[in-house]
Amino acid sequence: MAMSRLPTGQEKHRAVREMFDKIAPRYDLMNRLITLGLDQRWRRDALGRVGVGPGDRVIDLACGTGDLSEQAAARGARVMGIDFAGEMLRGARARGIDAAFVRADGAALPLADGCASVVTCGFALRNFVSLPEIFAELARVLDRGGRIALIEVDRPRSGIVRGAHSLYFDRLVPLLGGLLSDRQAYRYLPESTAYLPTAEELHAMLAKAGFGSIEKKGLMLGAAQILTAVKT
Ligand SMILES: C[S@@+](CC[C@H](N)C(=O)[O-])C[C@H]1O[C@@H](n2cnc3c(N)ncnc32)[C@H](O)[C@@H]1O
Repeated sequence: MAMSRLPTGQEKHRAVREMFDKIAPRYDLMNRLITLGLDQRWRRDALGRVGVGPGDRVIDLACGTGDLSEQAAARGARVMGIDFAGEMLRGARARGIDAAFVRADGAALPLADGCASVVTCGFALRNFVSLPEIFAELARVLDRGGRIALIEVDRPRSGIVRGAHSLYFDRLVPLLGGLLSDRQAYRYLPESTAYLPTAEELHAMLAKAGFGSIEKKGLMLGAAQILTAVKT
């Protein structure tokens, strides 16, 4: 994906799917390296914050290679992972996780209204073409009282931390990606934070889609975030 100009609309949809198909084989390795091994802890934290457990019907939206699906299944929930990149799903299916994996677009889920008690989504908000459409779809497939747990990268606010983070995220991560995976894709990773709405905007979008009890937890000095909310 050439990223001098960030794509939008259908161009973004296609470019993101092709990019994840390309980087799927090294995706897990890169995640562990980039987050210094913390990404799995953040997923555990997110699932704990919305109390995923036996009896839950979990949709893991943009499940990728299945890390969140695996953890949710290990907690005794019934899990369906959904993603539009066939190669990411191939990675998920190869892991023998006790979950169904389905290829679909997050903006048009092939699911009945109110079929889920929890929706999780890890590190994908930046990649969607329209967040209001996605949030409306999550509200549709959730039962009343259903919970969402969304994990995403973030940019630290405070000066020194922000500078150090930028050096790492904007310079070192693309270099590492170039060595071990795909340089363009790992240049896109920091650039794609430009798609992320502010905390206030995200809060307003979730409220408009019908969610309440919206909470944000910052992770690693603001380098990542967990958003949780409940369908009212
Ligand atoms: C950064 S990966 C995250 C994977 C996984 N959730 C995790 O925690 O590692 C983003 C995923 O979002 C998926 N994705 C992006 N846009 C999508 C869409 N519109 N519908 C379904 N999946 C989408 C990509 O294919 C990719 O697997």
